Amino acid sequence: MASSIVEKFESMEYGPALEDAGEVTRWLEARGRRFGSYIDGAWTAAGSGERFAVKNPATGELLATVESAGTAEADRAVAAARAALPEWQALPGHWRARYLYALARQVQKHARRLAVLETLDNGKSIRESRDIDIPLVARHFYHHAGWAQLLGNLGAKGFDGEFAGYAPVGVVGQIIPWNFPLLMFAWKVAPALAAGCTVVIKPAEYTPLTAILFAEIADEIGLPKGVLNVVNGDGRTGAAIVEHPGIDKIAFTGSTEVGRIIRKATAGTAKKLSLELGGKSPFVVFDDADLDSAVEGLVDGIWFNQGQVCCAGSRLLVQERVAERLFEKLRARMSTLRVGSPLDKAIDIGAIVDQVQYDRIAALVQTGIAEGATCWQPEGDLPAQGLFFKPTLLTGVAPSATVAQEEIFGPVLVAMTFRTPAEAVELANNTAYGLAASIWSENINVALDVAAQVKAGVVWVNATNLFDAACGFGGYRESGYGREGGKEGMFEYIEPAWLQAEVEPATSLPEPDAPVGDATDAAADFAIDRTVKNYIGGKQARPDSGYSYPVYGRDGRLVGEAPLGSRKDIRNAVEAARAAGKWAKMTAHGRAQVLYFFAENLVQRSAEIIAKLAEFVGPEQAAVEFDDSVERTFTYAAWADKFEGTVHNPPARMVTLAMKEAVGTVGILAPDEAPLLSLLSLVLPAIAMGNTVVAVPSERAATLMGELYQVFDTSDLPGGVVNLVAGKASELGKTLAEHDDLDAIWSFRDEATSAMIKAASIGNLKQVFSNNGRAIDWFDPAQAQGRWFLRHATQVKNIWVPYGE
Ligand code: NAI
Repeated sequence: MASSIVEKFESMEYGPALEDAGEVTRWLEARGRRFGSYIDGAWTAAGSGERFAVKNPATGELLATVESAGTAEADRAVAAARAALPEWQALPGHWRARYLYALARQVQKHARRLAVLETLDNGKSIRESRDIDIPLVARHFYHHAGWAQLLGNLGAKGFDGEFAGYAPVGVVGQIIPWNFPLLMFAWKVAPALAAGCTVVIKPAEYTPLTAILFAEIADEIGLPKGVLNVVNGDGRTGAAIVEHPGIDKIAFTGSTEVGRIIRKATAGTAKKLSLELGGKSPFVVFDDADLDSAVEGLVDGIWFNQGQVCCAGSRLLVQERVAERLFEKLRARMSTLRVGSPLDKAIDIGAIVDQVQYDRIAALVQTGIAEGATCWQPEGDLPAQGLFFKPTLLTGVAPSATVAQEEIFGPVLVAMTFRTPAEAVELANNTAYGLAASIWSENINVALDVAAQVKAGVVWVNATNLFDAACGFGGYRESGYGREGGKEGMFEYIEPAWLQAEVEPATSLPEPDAPVGDATDAAADFAIDRTVKNYIGGKQARPDSGYSYPVYGRDGRLVGEAPLGSRKDIRNAVEAARAAGKWAKMTAHGRAQVLYFFAENLVQRSAEIIAKLAEFVGPEQAAVEFDDSVERTFTYAAWADKFEGTVHNPPARMVTLAMKEAVGTVGILAPDEAPLLSLLSLVLPAIAMGNTVVAVPSERAATLMGELYQVFDTSDLPGGVVNLVAGKASELGKTLAEHDDLDAIWSFRDEATSAMIKAASIGNLKQVFSNNGRAIDWFDPAQAQGRWFLRHATQVKNIWVPYGE
């Protein structure tokens, strides 16, 4: 018997409100539910090759099969993108803007179809694909149509508008995951096309369908063939793209594990790389937070998209005093979350994308329980069919537990408590990741103070999981590097135009003709004052090896002895650099003062320094190089308080503060050319931005550092901010690259060293900044100083701050 209206009102049960999938079904049927790849403006769907199945995770229904692209298809796609590149980048920015604008309009026009297809393919709720994913896709193309417009035209010297002097990177390979299939596609494709790059993109094999529909749309608007190529397949296809020699840049979003594989595969190449990897983002609730809002924040933080979100607020850190109250409210709210058919407009949680992911989540929850956590899930039944997982709360979790450290990538919240803000920061940073953080407090001072201390690329204050095309998104540490969105994101697809001129290999100082005289005798002559030491923690330190090596001038005469640094010296230097971290907290003005003082003291000692430098480069170059070194110091003293952040304007009652923060501790391998100027050109931008440094000076001219550290000593530079260790660059470089406590490494020597550094630094995925063996004219300010260096010395943290009641 039908229930009465009164009964319905009492139970307030929702009926199903299913979205109609008829149009999408017709679209699938019209194509025989068979798809291929979109290469050079045409579809490959011969049908003879290996195919993979694409299923609806909510029902298990087969949606379509898709042909896997192999290396032959990858080759064709890269060739098509390469062929399309000259014309695409020669187009005035305005014309590229028109294409991007047309794409945005088409996305809006097809919004419902794209949303339904996304939901069928991925299992996410229609509410989210309709109201979040697809509108953000359109917004991304609109926003980047704007960047295309503002870049201006591409003359021989690069763009002439915003980003003047920069040029497109070239052909880019992009690999995306399945959790936001079309949104990740837009994040990758829009900035690349805006910048004048051509694209080969591989969607995830679980969720290729919206990218396929998008390619159809791009085809309809007449996007020139070869500009966008969509290549389908699994990791093997991804690997074929990553390893392809015809690709200039790889952009990847996905697991940290595959990020490492990609880092390794590209190590021996000059490919530019950006990685958006996993996360274990803290959701910090202070005792003065509005707890009801925080609970709603958690719903968006960890149950949005079934928790399959790289920046999910998956680690709840709550101040002890309010923990039980919050858990109680949370459990009550969790009981009202509706899990069910993703096409139902009234559900909150849809299906997990695939059985593999489902099993992984279930196994991790079991591990959590086995390691002592208390597991709570709301009562009620799940749909009989499909991959549904209840919202889950794990409390009493130890910070070291597997579930507190590993990305679960499902609707599972892991909770811990803290007492003080300092403890909250410590717990928040107790992870190898650094993607995002959410901070809840009614005290703006506390919230912003914690935001500044959390190591994460995105921080939401009293909010969570907000995204916008104008605001950069990306991680710190093992969450990867590079930004997507905003002005900072554009830099991933452009590079200084001069870098694209013909590549000259880096050269070294001329070999001394032949060592003259007896090294021991000569050394004895000046053993007292000419034996240089390492410089660690603001002190001169003998090398741990106890050995020095002779350093010869360009006439072959012995000019001194340099310490033969070893693994132990590097370890000590990194420790000293880490300990000097408060340098980043000094005001930018304060850092500028130190650099000006350093310049002043360099000038004071000009005669000695020029004389020493002349031993390696001759008197003429020495005089010029010294003057340029002083000027470069002034330049970075000037930049110290001027390389500022931005305030982004997302379409919400929010400001997003894009703060430029120091990367941390940076290892530097300086080249032999212009040994004083090049060393300073690398060390100064790093320290001007608040980093601390372990630098290996030119092996061949290492005695120069004896002069330098004396000047540092007299310039109020705090001990440990700059550490100098001399020795074999290849050996010391390897130790630096492998060191887990270093955040970045800059290699400006030959190509082999760059490749070695990239390969050896995969462990903690530290950022690598390198000349890829290319000669840099250290005397040319256009190449050797300025924003290119400063950008590598900083990483952008986007802090979202709401305003209004
Ligand atoms: P995955 O990293 O394997 O997949 C992401 C993309 O990389 C897919 O397009 C895949 O085909 C491609 N791929 C796989 N192996 C590759 C290779 N060797 N070379 C080039 N491309 C390759 O992620 P998966 O296996 O789907 O998910 C496993 C875990 O990774 C998840 O449980 C989650 O923890 C994490 N993950 C994180 C994401 C994020 O946005 N941070 C997104 C997806 C997964």
